[in-house]
Parts: sequence; C-alpha cells; structure tokens
Amino acid sequence: MSDNKNEKIIIANWKMKLGFGDSVKLAKDFSDKFADFKEESKTVVACPSLVSLSEVKKVLGDNVKMGAQNVFWEVQGSYTGEISPNSLEEIGCKYVIVGHSERRKHLLENYAMIHQKVKTLLSSSKLIPIVCIGEEADDRKTDRRDYVLMNQIQQALGGVNIGGDQKIVVAYEPVWAIGSGTALDPEEAKYAHKIIRLALNDMFGMKVVEANFKVVYGGSVTSENVKNFSDLEDIDGLLVGGASLDADEFLKICKNI
Ligand code: 13P
Repeated sequence: MSDNKNEKIIIANWKMKLGFGDSVKLAKDFSDKFADFKEESKTVVACPSLVSLSEVKKVLGDNVKMGAQNVFWEVQGSYTGEISPNSLEEIGCKYVIVGHSERRKHLLENYAMIHQKVKTLLSSSKLIPIVCIGEEADDRKTDRRDYVLMNQIQQALGGVNIGGDQKIVVAYEPVWAIGSGTALDPEEAKYAHKIIRLALNDMFGMKVVEANFKVVYGGSVTSENVKNFSDLEDIDGLLVGGASLDADEFLKICKNI
C-alpha cells in the first residue's frame, strides 16, 4: 500500500477453507498467474491460514503480499495459542485482518479487543491492520445501519493515533452479504462507503484519511459483479473470500477493479 490515493488494494481471505498442502498449492498458482500482473496502482494481498503462512511466503512470488487472518493485542507473554504481531512480521506478513465478523460471531471478539489490536499493531509493528466492520441483516432492515457502522468505527479506532506513513485499511463487510452469493447493490455500497468516509473524516480529518486510510468492500464479490464496484468513488478495493480460492477468478477480479 502506497501513498497513491488512487491505488486499489485487493485482499484474498482464504479463511479456514484449505488445508496446509492446498494452501501452498494455491499460493504457487497465485505466483504463476500473478507473475505478469504489474499494475502499479494495485496492491494484491493473500491471507492464508496461520499454519501455512511460512510455507506460502516461500512460493507466493513478488506480486502478491502476504497477510494473516488474526493477531493478538500483546507482542509477547503468557497467551497460550495466540499470535504475536512480531512473529507475523518475522515470517514476512505485511497485513493482518482484525475483527472479521466470523471471529466476532464464533469467538466473541468484540470492538474493545479490536481496538487493542489496532493500537498494538500501530505502536509495535509495521503491519497494516485490515479492520472489519459491517452491519447484520436486522440492522439493515430496521434502518440502523448508519449508526452501527459509525459506532463500530468509533469503538475500533477512537483515540487511536494515526500519522506519518502509518496505513490502515477499513473493510466494510455487511455480515448478511458474506458467503451469501448476493453482493451489496452498487447504490447501497456507494452510500455506505460515503458514511464510513464521513465518520473517518470526522475522527481523523480529511487529509489523514486521504493519506493513511483505504476503505474496501467485502461480501460475495466475484468476477461477474466486480465491475459494480470498480467505479465507485469511495471504494478503494475489495476483500474477497470464496472467489479468491481460484487463482484465475481472483486474477480477473484484480484486473477488473
Ligand atoms: P465471500 O467473498 O465468500 O462472501 O467472503 C467475504 C469475506 O468474508 C472476506 O473476508
């Protein structure tokens, strides 16, 4: 991720969909298919499972950066089973997803934890946090979406100091759209991203948001619907789940955003 405000970032989240061997195989496929992908204004990131990170790094190639799917809010100590940001950096990660809705649902990760994680990442590492927000289907039905998004942003990032060359990605993933096969309608995406941008501007000022933040969309993105998101002013990229498990399909998405 650079200072170019027109740069797009496209992130593949492989979740827990692949075993070790298949993750390494897919990374090799990414490396082959992305070997000629040299669009200066696009950054491509792959986030494999934790156990495959080191091996994936060896085969991923230069055109795809590596990210992790989770991290802890301390760098060292008695935290059985947790992952230090320092270790992620040591094995070549540049990005890390924080607070994915699947972790919020299944592991009860909350925005106080997400806030701690972001603070630690920014103060003790060079990892770029990909901070997930997004409303539930009920919030949307009852017209609470704007409030929910603003509240999540406030809880995750309120009081966090961002400056200099620190970067941060906010991933807007409406929970109901994830894995549903139904992506957000472009008009709605435009509106939600505007709300997110305004909330960030309010908290950090427009200059900092332009220089240090990217806001990306995630939820059932495919090569078929990617064009819906490519010309939307406030969308700086995508976070892709299912469609990133096929290197050809993901390459198409990256070419068409
Ligand atoms: P899908 O693209 O499979 O809907 O997943 C989105 C997601 O959760 C990415 O983090």
